[in-house]
Amino acid sequence: MNIILLGAPGAGKGTQATKIADKYALPHISTGDIFRENIKNQTEIGLLAKSFIDKGQLVPDEVTCKIVEERISRADCKDGYMLDGFPRTIAQAEALEKITKIDLVINIDVDFSLLMERLCGRRVCKDCGESYHVSRLNGTTTCARCGGELYQRKDDNPETVQSRLDVYNAQTAPLIAYYTEKGNIFNVISDTRPPEAVFEKIVEKLDTLRK
Ligand code: AP5
Repeated sequence: MNIILLGAPGAGKGTQATKIADKYALPHISTGDIFRENIKNQTEIGLLAKSFIDKGQLVPDEVTCKIVEERISRADCKDGYMLDGFPRTIAQAEALEKITKIDLVINIDVDFSLLMERLCGRRVCKDCGESYHVSRLNGTTTCARCGGELYQRKDDNPETVQSRLDVYNAQTAPLIAYYTEKGNIFNVISDTRPPEAVFEKIVEKLDTLRK
């Protein structure tokens, strides 16, 4: 099964992707994580990506599409994969369509008023990438899943979050209509539901599709 996770910054794509990857043994491909890994290793792609990510802008389509094309051509993706944060523009969606077939687009729908607080309070595990919110950490600075150290992403500050939300509205939100027209979108609302309840809805849908 080839899946896309769509949603605004902070909607909960990464949170749900980790759970889906664990339950269905699907490779979790996050373009944001790939860029952050490249930034950490100071690669050419990393240096380029950093100049966009730090401003809350999208990395150019041609760079991002090439990375995804290479990643999904690897052997571990032959029985399916899950894309988290890709595509993010109509041009990326069209490029993807030329190289693969998508079975389901899961759109995580959240009230925008919740996102600033979610993102500015997010802490992420340096080792496994699990996300937490400070309000539920009770002062803990290590990951409950693997014991790794928690940190705050550089782009999780009010100014950069605002530009990420503006970019989402202008360039990514049109993908909802794009995939609705194609008939393979599943909308799940995460406003007041905890991550576990959102995951239950996704599992119901995925289990129906797999039958
Ligand atoms: P990326 O890393 O993909 O960031 P993003 O899309 O902004 O999404 P986030 O990771 O911030 O949020 P999320 O939806 O995964 O939410 P999470 O589960 O962590 O991309 C970073 C940058 O890379 C981009 O800005 C861009 O520059 C570049 N980039 C990446 N892909 C690109 C592409 N395709 N093209 C071009 N450039 C690209 O949850 C957030 C918080 O909320 C957490 O604290 C979590 O615990 C909490 N939470 C989650 N679910 C719930 C819930 N149901 N209730 C309450 N709290 C919840």
